[in-house]
Amino acid sequence: MNSENLYNLAKQYFPGGVNSPVRYYAPYPIFMSRGYGSKIYDVDNKEYIDYCLGFGPLILGHSNDRVKEKMKEAMDRSWLLGTPTEYEINLAKLIRAGIPNLKLMRFTNSGTEATMHVIRVARAFTNKMKIIKVLGGYHGAHDSVLAKAGSGAVSIPSSPGIPEEVTKNTLLVDYNNIAKLEEIINKNKNSIAAMILEPVLGNIGVITPDNDYLAQVREITEKNDILLIFDEVITGFRNRFGSVQDHFKVYADLITLGKIIGGGLPIGAFGGRDDIMKKISPEGNVYEAGTFSGNPLSIIAGTETLSILKEQDYSILNNNVELLTQKISNELNIAINRFGSMYQIFFKTEPVRDYATAMKSDATKFFKFFKLLLKEGIYLPPSQYETNFLSFAHTNKDLEFTSAAMIKAIEMINNDNGSKRQ
Ligand SMILES: Cc1ncc(COP(=O)(O)O)c(C=O)c1O
Repeated sequence: MNSENLYNLAKQYFPGGVNSPVRYYAPYPIFMSRGYGSKIYDVDNKEYIDYCLGFGPLILGHSNDRVKEKMKEAMDRSWLLGTPTEYEINLAKLIRAGIPNLKLMRFTNSGTEATMHVIRVARAFTNKMKIIKVLGGYHGAHDSVLAKAGSGAVSIPSSPGIPEEVTKNTLLVDYNNIAKLEEIINKNKNSIAAMILEPVLGNIGVITPDNDYLAQVREITEKNDILLIFDEVITGFRNRFGSVQDHFKVYADLITLGKIIGGGLPIGAFGGRDDIMKKISPEGNVYEAGTFSGNPLSIIAGTETLSILKEQDYSILNNNVELLTQKISNELNIAINRFGSMYQIFFKTEPVRDYATAMKSDATKFFKFFKLLLKEGIYLPPSQYETNFLSFAHTNKDLEFTSAAMIKAIEMINNDNGSKRQ
């Protein structure tokens, strides 16, 4: 069956034919069937160079042999024990080797669960209920982080079905804006438990922090007894073996992880200061649980992935993005944001540095770009407001082909709109 037929069938089972909304694009998404290295293949056997990589976890590319072998060995033993296992300790050791300030941690099944639990423990520890979240930051699909800006300091739910009583405790601030942060803290003195933010935004394209933004955030939160939570579900182990904390030399009280640490299987983790994490049950009384948390397959896939990453030279991966984007950045009417191996192309010319400037980019042009590349056999995440990822499996040939195809697509889009090349 081709993708169109499969989509018509899928619509009979799943709302919109998909199991997560960002996988949909009009008129129907291409159904993929397998992946090896940097390539994925659709149900008609067409090959695509993949820059979505399962929305980020597959930093080693698809179907890595070493990870596969370890998972096969694990399956011969058991894929669910429901008891503590030595495997969990092995993964935790590797994670803490990269991120030493994760004094204690807990594994969950997704990044969403990790941020949900980290917010609970932060509230319990501080005995305060409000949290600060950055506009355009994404922390999963649970109620307290699905909030958008309302009038004044009021946040409103960004989806029907979320009680306003929940989002009224979520205060929104602009990224890269210290004055607004100070204002909101002063208005809510002594009632803010934590500020949660992606140190580098990765769910609105890629947006990097201004020079000392993160250092200032750290200083202000500390001064006001507000816990700082870095959501590193995307950035953890992405651009170095560890956390972006070491890049910016700014350290959070609590951190969430996901994606890469599960090697492509479902996972999340949260952790940090041991005085806070000791509040979690059974050591403390803050409840957190999950039937599948720490399941052997995710843990073993993650452990092998991190063991491989420990031996890798990340500068090769990060330089490859430079290789891919340097020619493209000369094109008209676009802005490219990148951080290590994450990058996004925005259809606009001004710098993109926060939610408001990202929203000014032309999502219609981006969609044309996405479709033109799809035709050429290049698969990007299907939204302007996602991040493109590179893996260690991408070759120079992949990058050269992609760079040429992207330039051609941008020129076509520019010409469509009557703009001339300088
Ligand atoms: C920064 C960030 N936090 C949390 C999440 C939620 O993770 P998950 O999709 O595993 O629930 C995501 C997902 O993309 C994310 O990018």
